[in-house]
Order: sequence, then structure tokens, then C-alpha cells
Amino acid sequence: MGIKALGYCIVETTQPERWDHFLTQVAGVMRAKDAADGAMQFRIDQRPFRLRIWQGAKDHFTAAGYEVTDAAALASLAEAIAAAGRPVEHGSADGAALRGVAAFFKTSDPAGNGLEFYHGDSVSAEPFVSPLDIPRFITGDMGMGHAVFQAPNFDETVAFYRDVVGFHETDMPRFYFGGGGPDDPGMGFAFMHADNGRHHSVALGEGPVPPSGCVHIMLELPSLLEVGKAHDRMKAHGYAESASLGQHYNDETVGFYVQTPGGFDLEIGCDSLVIDPASWEVTKHIGISIWGHEWAWQKAMKEAAAAE
Ligand SMILES: [Fe+2]
Repeated sequence: MGIKALGYCIVETTQPERWDHFLTQVAGVMRAKDAADGAMQFRIDQRPFRLRIWQGAKDHFTAAGYEVTDAAALASLAEAIAAAGRPVEHGSADGAALRGVAAFFKTSDPAGNGLEFYHGDSVSAEPFVSPLDIPRFITGDMGMGHAVFQAPNFDETVAFYRDVVGFHETDMPRFYFGGGGPDDPGMGFAFMHADNGRHHSVALGEGPVPPSGCVHIMLELPSLLEVGKAHDRMKAHGYAESASLGQHYNDETVGFYVQTPGGFDLEIGCDSLVIDPASWEVTKHIGISIWGHEWAWQKAMKEAAAAE
């Protein structure tokens, strides 16, 4: 049992044009040919898509798709997840073809966050070319990046990812956004890695699932130069900054957060720590950021206080 990497993310949208603009003009992602069912597909490397954006009735993160090694691993994972009481819906052959995979199933974690698992990935015959000349995104064995969810039933959901799915704990902190006084119980976080060097391929925060269905996803650029240029594009096109440039303690990523048309954030970063999953010892960081990362809500509170 084990998870190879985050392979793709699927998003439902009422505003496909806005997503297209955001991804191609801010993130520098390549728009591929639309899928057979009309969904938009976006690439950051040789995979046929990393983001599948389909037009629906709402703006909602549908699922993060994680890859497992083979058909046997997929079958035993489906069994384990069903035995843990989560719904398992095996994908059709058409659904697998749309995803560029051999087989997949849909499920959700105990908080209801959408997940898919698959095996048998594919590559596109066409080279990856960023519309904004980004030389490459950091993917390969480490997958497309990470996805972050929230769970009110935090302990149960963390146990699901660790004991049922097969992710491993990387950093298990508690963050005190309210100053850490007696009235501040803090908020649990779980950063978990797959069987690759990416510090976390999934993370969970303790709290209600946001209406968008996701907290953020992260894409990694090859340099600070590319992150800075992406930050300029966000400002030039008027997209809302959710957190200013900064650097995380735990995965050392330098980057910023921008609100996507889906309501959740996209973290665009670089220089992320690569761990050795075989020898990693679980950490418990006490802070989120070494520097920067002023969150939009912190900025708003400061401005409100100044206006009083
Ligand atoms: Fe992140």
C-alpha cells in the first residue's frame, strides 16, 4: 500500500473563461485540447492534464486525484476505503480514458473532501509549452504539487489518510492564530507525504470544510524569478492576493497565495524542501511562516483597526 503522488485535480466551474484566463495568464499553465466531454484541460508537464475544469452548476473543487502503483494496489485501496465506511465508486472505461489513466475510483475522506485514486498514467505526445514561457514546473516523481483540505472531524480524517490510504506524517503542528492565550485552543494541522520526496502531497487543517471544497492547491515553479513574475501577473490582472510573498517553515517553499476563480487559493512557490521519505522523522513546527505571508484576513483586520 502506498501513494505515488498527486496526479491531477478536478474542478467544477460556472465560469470556464475566467479559469482559462487565470491559469494561462497568471499561472502560465498550458491549455490543452478540450477533453472528449468538453471539459477544459490544463498542462504543466508531459501529463495530458493536471487540471481538469468542467462546466457545472456550481464553483466547487471536485477531487484531488492520487496515483497508486498498479491495478492490485488500486483494488486493495478501494477495499480498504470501503471497509473504512467511505463510498467507493469505480470509474467507467470512458471516465478512465477522459483522465488518461488505466483505471480509477472516486471517493471522499471522512470530512467529505473529494478524492480519486488511479493507476496507469499516460503522457502526451505534444511537448509542454507554457504560454508565458515558464521553462517548466517542478513535477516528475513528486507529482503536480499538493492539495490542502479542512476537516471538522480532524483526528478521524488524519487517521483515514494515514492508516487507510497510506500517506505518512511529515509535520503535525498546532497553530495558534489567536495569539496562543488561554482562550485560543489552536488549530491542528497535518502535512503528509506520499512515497516521494515532496514534503507534503496532502495537508489538512482542523475546521469546517470551506464552501469551495478546498483550501488551496500548490504548484511549484523552478525559481524565485518565475514566482516573482507570477506575482506581478496576479497584480497586473487584478486577482486577489490571499497571502503576500513569504516562506514556510516546514516545506521551506517561497511563494504567495492567490484566490482562484473557484474560491479556493492557488499557492505558487519555489525551492520546496525535498525529503527522504524513507528516513523522515515527523516534525512539529510552531509557526507557519519564517517571513512574509501576510494573509488577506490579517491585512483586513489591521486596516479595520487602523480606521477605528
Ligand atoms: Fe501549501
